[in-house]
Amino acid sequence: MNITQTPPLNVHRLRSDFPILSQTVRGKPLVYLDNAATTQKPHCVIDAISNFYQKDYANVHRGVHTLSERATLAYEAVRKQVQQHFNAASEKEIIFVRGATEAINLVAYSYGNRYINSGDEILISAMEHHSNIVPWQMLCKQSGAILKVIPINQQGELDLNQFEQLLSPKTRLLALSHMSNALGTINPVKQMIAQAHQHGIPVLLDGAQAAPHMQVDVQDLDCDFYAVSGHKLYAPGGIGILYGKQQLLEAMPPWQGGGDMIRRVTFEETEYAPIPYKFEAGTPSIVDTIGLGAALDYINTIGLDAIANHEAELLAYCQQQAEQIPQLKPIGTAADKGAIFSFVLERVHPHDIGTAMDHLGIAIRAGHHCAMPVMDYYQVPATARASFGLYNTREEVDVLIDGLKQVIEVFG
Ligand code: ALA
Repeated sequence: MNITQTPPLNVHRLRSDFPILSQTVRGKPLVYLDNAATTQKPHCVIDAISNFYQKDYANVHRGVHTLSERATLAYEAVRKQVQQHFNAASEKEIIFVRGATEAINLVAYSYGNRYINSGDEILISAMEHHSNIVPWQMLCKQSGAILKVIPINQQGELDLNQFEQLLSPKTRLLALSHMSNALGTINPVKQMIAQAHQHGIPVLLDGAQAAPHMQVDVQDLDCDFYAVSGHKLYAPGGIGILYGKQQLLEAMPPWQGGGDMIRRVTFEETEYAPIPYKFEAGTPSIVDTIGLGAALDYINTIGLDAIANHEAELLAYCQQQAEQIPQLKPIGTAADKGAIFSFVLERVHPHDIGTAMDHLGIAIRAGHHCAMPVMDYYQVPATARASFGLYNTREEVDVLIDGLKQVIEVFG
C-alpha cells in the first residue's frame, strides 16, 4: 500500500469515541477484531442519526414543506461529500444503494443486460467475495455469457501473466476486488485497469474492503465502477455507494422502477429521471445516508493515511507475534496486504478457534468469509480471521496471541 508518513494515531482517545468498545464480554474486556465483517460506530455517527430523527426527519425530493426541504438538502450534501471523498468528477456519478452487494448487482443487471450477450466473457478473479461472483454467474446463465477467472498463487496474489492472457476480444467487463476480504491482498488495480482499458474493457472494482483502509481516488484509478459498503466504513448498515462514470451511467437502463426515478409517467410510457436518480427508485435509506456523512467527516478528520499507517503497523505486529505459534499457518501472505490476518491452526477447526476466542472476549470471524472458492484453493474448510480497524491496539493483538496459545494447549 502506498502510504505517506503521518503522526501516530491517539488510539486510546479515539477508542472513547466508540461506546460499544468499553463493555466486557464473558467477563473480559471486549477485543473487537471483526472489522472486515463490519465496523463499530462512533458517537458522532450515532448522534447524527438520533438528531436527524429528532429534528429533521422527512422524506426527500418529495415535499415543499420545511422538513422535507431540510432532509433533502442534508441527503444531497452527503452525495457531495461522497463525491469529494472519492474524487469523482461529478455528484451525478454517485448512486446511493444498500451496500457493495447491491452496487454490483445493479451493474450486473443494468449494464450487463444491455451490453453483455451470448458468448461474451466476464473476467473476475479467484479471490472474489460471493457478491462479486454470483451476480455475474446469474448474468451468464441468463445471457449465455462465459465467466472467466484470473487464478491466484499460494501467497494469495493474482497471476498477472494469466490476467494478460485472459483479456480477450470477447471480454466485456473486468470485475475485481480492490482488497480481498478473505486474504487481505491489495490488488494492483491501477495497472490492471490500464491494461483492461487498452483492450477497451470497462472495470468494476469491489471496494468494500479497500475503502475503509485507504484513500480511494476513482479518477486516478480510472475505474469505471466502484462499489462501497457504508457499514464497513464506520457508517450505519443499509447504505452503500456505487460510483460510475457519467457516460456509462447515462447509457445504462434503470434496474428498479418506482417513485423518484422518473420524470414523467403515463400508462403508455415512462420518461426516466436523469442520473443519479434514475437508479434510486423508492424512498432511500435517508437516515443511514446522514450517518454516512458523519462517518466520512469522522474518518477524514483523523485521515485515511494515518488510519492506514496504524493498521499496517498492527498487522505487521500481529504477523510477527504469530510466528511464536508454530501450529499457526497464515492464509494470504501477499506482499501488498491490508489489515486482515487469516489463518488456520493445526488440529483445531476455525469455528472452535472462534468460539474459544469469544470466551476470552475476542471477536474474530471464523468461516469461509463468503469466499468459498478461496477456501477450495487452499483446501481448508474455513479460516479464522482477525481484521483491524482504527481503534485496535497492540495490546489487543497480544490478547489474541495469548488466546491462541491457550487454544493450542487445550486442543493441541
Ligand atoms: N464480507 C464480510 C466479511 O468479509 C461480511 O466478513
